[in-house]
Amino acid sequence: MAFSTDFLIIGTGISGLSFALKAAKIGRVTIVTKKAKVDTATNLAQGGIAAVLSKDDSYDLHIQDTLRSGAGLCKEEIVRMVVENGPDRIRELINIGVHFMTREHDPAHLDLGKEGGHSARRIAHALDLTGREIENALLHKVAENPDIHLLENHLAVDLLIGSKAGVKPSTSNLDDLCLGAYVLDRESGQIDNWRARVTVLCSGGCGKVYLYTTNPDIATGDGIAMAYRAGARVGNLEFVQFHPTCLYHPLTKNFLISEAVRGEGGRLIDAKGVHFMEKYDSRGDLATRDAVARAIDTEMKASGDDCVYLDISHKDAGFIKKRFPNIYQTCLSYGIDITKQPIPVVPAAHYMCGGVMTDMWGRTNIENLFALGETACTGLHGGNRLASNSLLEAVVFANQAYLACDNEKDRILSTALHESPEWSTGKARMINEKVLISHNWDQIRRLMWNYVGIVRSVNRLNLVKKRLEPILREVAHHFRDYFLTPDLVELRNIALVAELIVQSSLLRKESRGLHAIVDYPEQDNVNWLHDTILSRSDKTIKSYLLDPDEYE
Ligand code: SIN
Repeated sequence: MAFSTDFLIIGTGISGLSFALKAAKIGRVTIVTKKAKVDTATNLAQGGIAAVLSKDDSYDLHIQDTLRSGAGLCKEEIVRMVVENGPDRIRELINIGVHFMTREHDPAHLDLGKEGGHSARRIAHALDLTGREIENALLHKVAENPDIHLLENHLAVDLLIGSKAGVKPSTSNLDDLCLGAYVLDRESGQIDNWRARVTVLCSGGCGKVYLYTTNPDIATGDGIAMAYRAGARVGNLEFVQFHPTCLYHPLTKNFLISEAVRGEGGRLIDAKGVHFMEKYDSRGDLATRDAVARAIDTEMKASGDDCVYLDISHKDAGFIKKRFPNIYQTCLSYGIDITKQPIPVVPAAHYMCGGVMTDMWGRTNIENLFALGETACTGLHGGNRLASNSLLEAVVFANQAYLACDNEKDRILSTALHESPEWSTGKARMINEKVLISHNWDQIRRLMWNYVGIVRSVNRLNLVKKRLEPILREVAHHFRDYFLTPDLVELRNIALVAELIVQSSLLRKESRGLHAIVDYPEQDNVNWLHDTILSRSDKTIKSYLLDPDEYE
């Protein structure tokens, strides 16, 4: 079946929903999301959203903190634009119904939290459930808007791309333009053509490429993979942020212990109760995430222990329960009373600082294709994202993209909705052994965890490249041979993103920010002060997954 819309938004996190609410002033909006609308990373975000909101803070301080964390790779004009937009975007969120915590004795002012790498208190929060508060408020507004149509259980498979030959070119000199997406309706099993004048990738990150992650199950790199396959430029994929403190417990797989716990005095200790962060960084427990995750990794490797501990039990029990109700209750349900005992924690894949390359307006190099939120690489995060800058980036760039579309609305609304070929199943057949998917899924995630983790080496990267090769080839063949299922679509996406992360990591011959590689321990500002860009048009880089026959 074929459907059409003015704006097709893929994903229901903070960036997709924020953009939808604004784009609905221009035209018809359709949002597709592959599972339930609340299955987003936004919904799990605990810490909050960073912005300059007090007289003890300044734009310059926030800019400096972001640049310092980003290890030389942030684009300063983007950082400035995002930081200076922060207060307005927070006010907008408040106006649509987000309740950030205010000070107990001064409700006119927000209660601002602190996190690693920030030199001032600047995190607007809703205790440790900030993401849920934002997600609920946005979904509520979206539901009230008759111009927005939200489809759950609709998984985007690939972008519809046309060449501009035959289509009147606009002012840009781009070769390709995005015409919408092929979308798998999970209920009917059909793949529909969704034709759109503007397509916006907001499908989150790719934590599921790794065995251990704080991300929800939806984080399979769909946006990055679709964009790369379509010819978009993707960048900085070697900069995978590992959150230092994920709960270590056999019964839970992705529960985050917010950095705000360290912001309120929590300290990292080893199994003997010894603080260790000062050994590694003068900023101690509030060093930036790259430094803290590496320190924990070093401690765990040296001691052979399975985890380290985060201790906040020295603080008043009433304060802990009030400030961190979700963390307190969740840990208690696993038998850990955080008011009395340290919390076992390990680092886990948390955030992709790279992504689909965009300009200041969220535009990619493919016309009418935007990327927002964790899917995008805007230049804000550089080599290491500053804590709580991601929700900020998402709302600011949703606004930027809206402004860009509004500015061009006449062109956009008069863009023809082109006929596009139906999805072809070729000689595909039903897959009758799901283990063909699950085994590869498991292997990729284990390989990435063990070989492309917090500290890398050229040897391990080359080994993983070799070991991924037959898996990627097999996934490519499954994709050709079997009817698409959601699991197969996601497997293909994590496989491609894994391959791209390995390629990017091998390209960057230095250690910087989140990319630590033992063979090149120093930062090299002469040769490597630039993004690592991958694109299908670069014929020097081949993909076992996308071009398997070139290797047969
Ligand atoms: C946290 O609460 O530690 C996560 C916040 C973030 O990733 O920015």
